Amino acid sequence: MSAEVPSAGTDLSSADLHAAITDPVLLSMNILNEVAGRFPNAVPFAAGRPFGSHYDIARLPDYLDRFCEYLSAERGLPGDAVTQTLFQYGRTKGIIHELIARHLALDESIHVDPESIVVTVGCQEALFLALRTLRRDRPDVLVSADPTYVGVLGAARLLDMPVHPISEGPDGIDLDDLTTQVHRLRGERLRPRACYLVPDFANPSGTSMPTPARRRLLEIAEAENLLVLEDNPYGLFSGGDRLPTLKSLDRGRRVVYLGSLAKSTFPGARIGYVVADQRVANHDGGITLLADELAKIKSMTTVNTSPIAQAMVAGRMLAYDCSLEAANAEETANYRRNLRLLLDGLERRFAQNKSMITWNTPVGGFFVVLTVPFAVTDELLEVSGRDYGVLWTPMHHFFAGGGGTNQLRLSCSHVTPEQIEIGLDRLTAFIRAQSHKAAG
Ligand SMILES: Cc1ncc(COP(=O)(O)O)c(C=O)c1O
Repeated sequence: MSAEVPSAGTDLSSADLHAAITDPVLLSMNILNEVAGRFPNAVPFAAGRPFGSHYDIARLPDYLDRFCEYLSAERGLPGDAVTQTLFQYGRTKGIIHELIARHLALDESIHVDPESIVVTVGCQEALFLALRTLRRDRPDVLVSADPTYVGVLGAARLLDMPVHPISEGPDGIDLDDLTTQVHRLRGERLRPRACYLVPDFANPSGTSMPTPARRRLLEIAEAENLLVLEDNPYGLFSGGDRLPTLKSLDRGRRVVYLGSLAKSTFPGARIGYVVADQRVANHDGGITLLADELAKIKSMTTVNTSPIAQAMVAGRMLAYDCSLEAANAEETANYRRNLRLLLDGLERRFAQNKSMITWNTPVGGFFVVLTVPFAVTDELLEVSGRDYGVLWTPMHHFFAGGGGTNQLRLSCSHVTPEQIEIGLDRLTAFIRAQSHKAAG
């Protein structure tokens, strides 16, 4: 079939490019980033960015020195090998896997062979590698808690892997619905390959799964022969006792653990990782780690993750003996305070209107979801930024199967206590005006 003739003055037609390009899912990130850029003075309840009180260029040389010292003292590399490690192409699975394994053992009670870790360009690449590897052909689908992180919807769309939504309640993914949907999909000759979810302080909903539900999810995964993709960028930022990760409870190698170091070190390094300790039977009778299969795909996408970026992040980890919980003590306290201020502020402003305006009360993480009596569109976000000076995220972007039309997400990670007060006053004015309008 020949390509479409582009209109005058253009060279290509989007109709001839991958269909994902015109899919609204791929526009979501840009819409949200772009609106923030246009209203720089608006209070940013939209961005899920870390606050970064430790960001300081003067610390970077120290991070680098610490990592080089680690390479020579702990790994026994001679000087020239240290130089080559930093300046050359590198190991596909990364060079900080042992440090990540140490952090996982210390902070998450996850004990894995460092060989089962692939260091990636952000968690986004980890997601992409996992989905690319699991999607063999057309019947392969992903099931996901709904609403879900927009990055997983985008990655799946790029890979032509349909995402089937599983409803979510106040305790996270609905496990009865998960079983029902998996059976239904199989009845339609589809192959649910994995279930994606964020069990701790989910993005966007802020919900967390209680421990018994985590155990039950693992039992279902075992019974249904399903992998679980556990994405955990926010678990460290708890307002109280931390719950066990799914991976730490996993005895049957059902969980592929997706890690992001963006929030726990700094996103500018773009470092994430995946723990894939599943054993893969090969056609020649051999057995490999799923991590090694992911690495084959990585070798043809990003080749290897920048060693310099890995060194910077590792230097910060080494400064805290690989405990990211310790490294983030101040950040965690700030996020916890902000979340309390946000929830208290909502209570003070909307306590009388709870029949119309409601919100959930997460116990950690960055996000709170507000339900309002009007449709929350991208156009209204524009109005809110321009006329009221406050930004938030329309929830409809996070639903695979449609939904969230009356909801907005507030993030408390990148604001000061003063901004929270000002932002909530502005948000209240905006919500009152829109509610009046909707009531006619
Ligand atoms: C749930 C979730 N997963 C993954 C990511 C992406 O992480 P990274 O910046 O490491 O690619 C984010 C970022 O906001 C997220 O919220």
